Amino acid sequence: MYAPEYPIRTDRLLLRPLEPGDAEAMLAYKSLPDVVRYVPYGTLDLAGIEERIATRWSTTRFEKQDDAVCLAVEERSTGRLVGDVVLFWRSESDRSGEVGYILDPRFGGRGYAAEAVSALLEVGFDGLGLHRITARIDERNSASVRVAERLGFRHEARLVESSWFKEEWTTVLVYALLEQEWRRDGAPRVRDRRPS
Ligand SMILES: CC(C)(COP(=O)(O)OP(=O)(O)OC[C@H]1O[C@@H](n2cnc3c(N)ncnc32)[C@H](O)[C@@H]1OP(=O)(O)O)[C@@H](O)C(=O)NCCC(=O)NCCS
Repeated sequence: MYAPEYPIRTDRLLLRPLEPGDAEAMLAYKSLPDVVRYVPYGTLDLAGIEERIATRWSTTRFEKQDDAVCLAVEERSTGRLVGDVVLFWRSESDRSGEVGYILDPRFGGRGYAAEAVSALLEVGFDGLGLHRITARIDERNSASVRVAERLGFRHEARLVESSWFKEEWTTVLVYALLEQEWRRDGAPRVRDRRPS
């Protein structure tokens, strides 16, 4: 079992559990077809977001394999919710996990996604003790590929038309990062450990 200490701070961001009051801010991007095109759900309405915040997005700690912790990403300077990230605990025996990330496009192009996922890698490797963390990306999702590569993930596989996803065959790129690679290559240490 591992329970991260919240909030998690980076230079510009704060990661914390989602709250019912986040639903409106999440609606601004989760209702946009272009934003959710490559994530595992379709456009969401307010009721759908509220329901998820109350259920599957309410997990705040890792108790067993298959648990997924979804966190709000807040801009520290304004307190605005700019996106959310998720860490899935895929396998206890293999000590593996997977990351997911999504930003409100109004806050894109600032390095926020990479900064937030970097903090999530610290949760996975340092906190949960994972050995390997992956990102599975639709090969058309070049912005997501750039995030993974910027964080040092290795391109491991191109699974041609391996997934029937949103009514079409999808080619999935598998990116992975091992704990020793993360430590050796000097993981971007963006977490601000100063007291708030
Ligand atoms: C994937 C996604 C989160 C990437 O967002 P993003 O804004 O491109 O990523 P970042 O926040 O890390 O920002 C990176 C960009 O900011 C730029 N940038 C500007 N200021 C920066 C700074 N201070 N520090 C770092 N990067 C900075 C980088 O150069 C980079 O631009 P580039 O990609 O053109 O090279 C976003 O496109 C998204 O939400 N997509 C929809 C959901 C989705 O598909 N998620 C992934 C599913 S696998």
